[in-house]
Amino acid sequence: MQTHEIRERFTQHFVKAGHEAVPSASLILDDPNLLFVNAGMVPFKPYFLGQQNPPFPNGKATSIQKCVRTLDIEEVGITTRHNTFFQMAGNFSFGQYFKKGAIEHAWTLLTGSVEDGGYGLDPQRLWVTVYLDDDEAAEIWEQHIGVPAERIQRLGMADNYWSMGIPGPCGPCSEIYYDRGPEYGKEGGPVADDNRYMEIWNLVFMEKERGEGIGKDNFEILGDLPKKNIDTGLGVERVACILQGVDNVYETDLLRPVIEAAEKVTGTVYEDPSTERINDIRFRIIADHSRTAMMIMLDGVTPGNVGRGYILRRLLRRIIRSARLLGAKGRTMELFMNTIMDTMTPSYPEIADNRDRILKAAVAEETAFLRTLESGTHLFEQAASQVKKEGGTTLSGAEAFTLHDTYGFPLDLTLEMAAEAGLEVDRDGFNALMDEQIARAKADSRAKKHGHADLSVYRQFVDEHPTEFTGFEELNSSAKVIGLIRDGEQVSEAAEGEDVEVILDVTPLYAEAGGQLGDRGTIQAGSSLLHVGDVQKIGKKLWVHKATVERGGISLGEDVEAIVDPKWRHAARQAHSATHLIHAALREVLGPTAVQAGSMNKPGYLRFDFNYTEGLNAEQMEAIEKITNEAVDSDWKVNTIETSLEEAKAMGAMALFGENYGDVVRVVEIGGPFSMELCGGTHVAHSSQIGPVSILGESSVGSGVRRIEAYSGLDSFQYLSKERALVEGMATAMKAKPEEVPERVAALTQKLKEAEKTIAELHRKQLLSGVNELLAAAENLDGLSFVHKRLPDGTGAGDLRTLAMEMKSKLGNEAGVIVLVAADDRGRVPFVVATSKPAQEAGHSAKELAGVLGQYISGNGGGKPDMAQGSGSDIGGFEQGVNAIREQLQA
Ligand code: SER
Repeated sequence: MQTHEIRERFTQHFVKAGHEAVPSASLILDDPNLLFVNAGMVPFKPYFLGQQNPPFPNGKATSIQKCVRTLDIEEVGITTRHNTFFQMAGNFSFGQYFKKGAIEHAWTLLTGSVEDGGYGLDPQRLWVTVYLDDDEAAEIWEQHIGVPAERIQRLGMADNYWSMGIPGPCGPCSEIYYDRGPEYGKEGGPVADDNRYMEIWNLVFMEKERGEGIGKDNFEILGDLPKKNIDTGLGVERVACILQGVDNVYETDLLRPVIEAAEKVTGTVYEDPSTERINDIRFRIIADHSRTAMMIMLDGVTPGNVGRGYILRRLLRRIIRSARLLGAKGRTMELFMNTIMDTMTPSYPEIADNRDRILKAAVAEETAFLRTLESGTHLFEQAASQVKKEGGTTLSGAEAFTLHDTYGFPLDLTLEMAAEAGLEVDRDGFNALMDEQIARAKADSRAKKHGHADLSVYRQFVDEHPTEFTGFEELNSSAKVIGLIRDGEQVSEAAEGEDVEVILDVTPLYAEAGGQLGDRGTIQAGSSLLHVGDVQKIGKKLWVHKATVERGGISLGEDVEAIVDPKWRHAARQAHSATHLIHAALREVLGPTAVQAGSMNKPGYLRFDFNYTEGLNAEQMEAIEKITNEAVDSDWKVNTIETSLEEAKAMGAMALFGENYGDVVRVVEIGGPFSMELCGGTHVAHSSQIGPVSILGESSVGSGVRRIEAYSGLDSFQYLSKERALVEGMATAMKAKPEEVPERVAALTQKLKEAEKTIAELHRKQLLSGVNELLAAAENLDGLSFVHKRLPDGTGAGDLRTLAMEMKSKLGNEAGVIVLVAADDRGRVPFVVATSKPAQEAGHSAKELAGVLGQYISGNGGGKPDMAQGSGSDIGGFEQGVNAIREQLQA
């Protein structure tokens, strides 16, 4: 049974039982604790906690959620069941059916006949586990379903009590396992062997709320959830593995084609009994990672050096590296991406619209990494041969770290290359340097975002006191201080001169989001005044004002006025609306593959990053600027519409990432279809209020990503006005009209070039005019002319050479030796020695004589028998040098 059908049957089974089929949420949700959605229940968390009512008429839902877990990345390909991307099929009951219902639903789908829409699994092969004291679940399995007692096993908290690993809903769970047979391991059920008995479905009886704690089994249970809920997760890939009779999750219908593609492009055969097992692992890594990388890119991630971007980069590099180790010589990424997009499109039709973008990003990363690989390999080889030359056997941790840090070499790549070269690597040294770097990076990013605070201090506020934002309607709001945080600790007051983070129940100040920086403003209470220098959001709901108490003090519970700096906001709105216009103009000029990769805007300035592999030319830049300013001039009304994500997408709004099914989203529309984006930012009311927009330039910010920078509003005017002053200044200096400046500059440059040429010619003539005089002053050493001369200080090496050549050619068939030196004002002494042909034949080599001179003027030189040059540092030794040469010539 194909994976697509496994998904379909799951959905139908639960839709028939009254569940609403909910599409998968994006892999990226705005949760500070999660890099990627890693379980089907994540989007439903507020419903379990009772914070929001589930929007499903029967209180029941089913979904097939895209999930990414990269913690086990090292396990990929080694075990038979670890995918970094997988699809979790789940059914959810919010206060409706509980243990009995969940168990029944699962059992009928698994064991129901294929004709009736089930998976047709043999009930004799199914085993279950329950939590230690969950007699109720055990009894349902045994009495109600008929699973024999010996196939029901009990496990502790670490296995059979599920939570998200962080505070949130939790509860005991019951897992269903499939016995794959004795060839996969030993008897004895899941407690004995989790490879032979493969876990396929986890039924969580979500009835408690967990607090802080560590790991899977060491946390506090805070109490009961308002209702008893069900959250289940069936591993679609694992069921596919069983139903397709394949050995592991990498060989199922969706991934196997990538393995086959890799066989073609590497020339190595998968599961070739004569090759090493490591090769099979590499094939599986390629298949698994190609899919994960593609799905992450589909949801908007681009390769980078931190967070999600780094995970993506790591996946892509592991693919490239594995392919090379399997024997691929050239590029492979396009083939792998095309193959996986083909297999995944039937389940994820949105891939079709994003194919080009994904391909471009992946291929650009490949290009960059192949270059890196080349220079890194070179560095590695140098380091390795140095170690060997010194008789060592170990590559230092510092060397391995440089390879990692500068060339992006994963440690295992260095280890493998070292092993091939017969060397070891100082792993401890490497790890110590890595730890240092991680600690530094963590400290930096924490300090930047949240003043060193541990995010847990905000958690209670996020859950219980989400901030009400009034800043779309007003710039001043009355508010109450509900939290004060200093150095990561809650405090009850802050005094004059202190920095403090202020949490208010209501605020008109915009918090940094969607690229727009947080508002600046003040918080005032009586005669007390706080200056707000930044506003950050925790999750989607909590506004944190970073403030300094300028006058008086502030206390918890106090009534205050929160006030946005109106000038700041005015210019911020201009910049943000300008960003939307530039985005729209860009797509008009470059086409739809120029997808936004990031943006930043603040009063007067904006930058916009987008996926594009080539630099933009002057015409494209001009067109983008023109279209943008025409849009400003059109004085379009800026409309904001609040609607559901589905509606917004149907309207054609460009979706950002991180929106979730059922979310109310805000669409900002400027000029109808011209610009329509999901956006929570602040905007002008009419496009003309943006004022002029001037593009500053365009540049590359990493592989496949370009950046446009621009000024808006008054800053744009000031920029243009400065430019004008500059041109006027130049025009005055040139006594020309401004429009004549380019022509004049071109003419001047041309003249200058000609003048330089003439000067060079004159110089040469002047230089050579002294040649005859020099030759006339030559010493005659038994028929050999010996010219030696210190030329005026400052004569350069080039001139010495020109002179010497000229003299040499003038000597013609006469035997002659020429030695010229000069000194420059930095203490260097360039010199030239030349010998005519007869002198060479008499055994006088310029190179050798240069060596003699070098000894006296503290320098050295090199060259050929007829001409040598060099540089010394002690002009004082010239006389002696000449004497020594003379002696040699006479010897
Ligand atoms: N939340 C549970 C899991 O992730 C079941 O969906 O395993």
